[in-house]
Amino acid sequence: MYNVKLICGEQIPLEMHKVRMVQRINLLPVEERLAAMQDAGFNTFLLRNRDVFLDMLTDSGVNAMSENQYAAMMQADDSYAGSETFYRLEEVIHDIFGPVNFLPAHQGRACENIIAETLVRPGTTALMNYHFTTTMAHIQKRGGKVEEVIGDEGYKIKSDTLFKGDLDLDKLREAIHRLGKENICFVRIEAGTNLIGGQPVSMANMREVSKLCRGEGIPLVYDASLLSDNLYFIKTREPEFADASIKDITREIASLMDVSYFSARKLGAARGGGILVTDEKLFLKMRELIPFYEGFLTYGGMSVREMEALAVGLQETMDFDVISQTPIFVEAMCNELIARGVPVVTPPGGLGCHVDARAFCSHIPQEEYPAGALATALYIASGVRGMERGTLSEQRGKDGKDNLAVMELVRLAFPKRVFTLSQVKYTADRLEWLYKNREIIAGLKFVEEPSVLRFFFGRLAPIGDWPQRLAEAFRRDFGDSL
Ligand code: F0G
Repeated sequence: MYNVKLICGEQIPLEMHKVRMVQRINLLPVEERLAAMQDAGFNTFLLRNRDVFLDMLTDSGVNAMSENQYAAMMQADDSYAGSETFYRLEEVIHDIFGPVNFLPAHQGRACENIIAETLVRPGTTALMNYHFTTTMAHIQKRGGKVEEVIGDEGYKIKSDTLFKGDLDLDKLREAIHRLGKENICFVRIEAGTNLIGGQPVSMANMREVSKLCRGEGIPLVYDASLLSDNLYFIKTREPEFADASIKDITREIASLMDVSYFSARKLGAARGGGILVTDEKLFLKMRELIPFYEGFLTYGGMSVREMEALAVGLQETMDFDVISQTPIFVEAMCNELIARGVPVVTPPGGLGCHVDARAFCSHIPQEEYPAGALATALYIASGVRGMERGTLSEQRGKDGKDNLAVMELVRLAFPKRVFTLSQVKYTADRLEWLYKNREIIAGLKFVEEPSVLRFFFGRLAPIGDWPQRLAEAFRRDFGDSL
């Protein structure tokens, strides 16, 4: 893909697919966007899709499927037990990940529920490069703790480090020594650090972490939800793998892990999830929980049609052209924004473009949720729906104070093969306008705050009348443009 150059020397993301099914989307006038945001309690999760122009909230369950995935859905074997669809999916899993035991689950957090119930004892700690919201919630629910051992570069917004998601081996060794290996329930590697910029993990790092964990007898768990981007980064950024096949890279990763799991709403561009376990005893323990929480062992809460789509989607993930689309679109968006002076996380990672809300809205204190405010402001200015990935996404501490996030980001996710370059440019344009008018934006405060995963359903209010003033400034500058 990157071998295509324009005559001016510019490289553009060139799609290796054509779009043959489309969905109508609406771009409402700014006054209606403001009203929709008010109705949604200033939380982008609560917007109705009909009011959203570009839905960059997430890539979860909203990726474009291929014609072969749709075709496969037609031949699903609908039976409660022993479905042929399951065996077809299991065969693909073995072909791609090697000799592992496979358990189906209805989505990624369902896998986390089962893994936590099997491995976490009260008072134990899970060490990881970085937590994900649902992962942490499941561990804490079992009385466990989370400690992050990512390298220092991972915490920097701007960096030249190509694998900012790598674990710091010294921090990992120190934590094992300090806590005692018997008090560590598992070490977890997240394939892309979802909450801090979708940053990849190198094979070199995974090899070292695996060696260390095996030496200490600590289970190593891999969250492969963001595997597809990470495969792209290993191939393009780690010279040893420049000529390696995507499948060989995948198999090596799987061979380093004791447990791998994934959200198939992301990996495989379908909907569902799966757990891969090497150790037979551990597998049997987890297997007991599948009928309890998910359904019978040969569907695990998934529809058989989604399982067929997943089997094809996983095979397509082994195609470099397929997996490069998201990272090169993310890079294109980041480059557009950098050229316009808008602060973003660098190097560009996977999953989406991450705008640095703390720099963007440096006048808003973290307790007033600058990333939440920026996500709100972006919707009003553009109809684009992003997701807050900052303090609002954290759990409030027992002392009633906010746990301040390491980064305050607005994530503009790229569902696979969904958006076009003109839509990227439109979004960059509106962000540039917003950046020039950033002083108008002020903070948010909770008016309804759920005690767990509050960012999903929480309702907020603006501090002052800034959303109205923002909409008025938009109207002044853009005239009758949408
Ligand atoms: N792990 C990672 C790294 C994820 O990104 C997600 C989901 C999950 C686990 C949970 O999977 O949604 O299928 O239950 N991330 C979505 C997102 C929600 O928008 O980034 P799930």
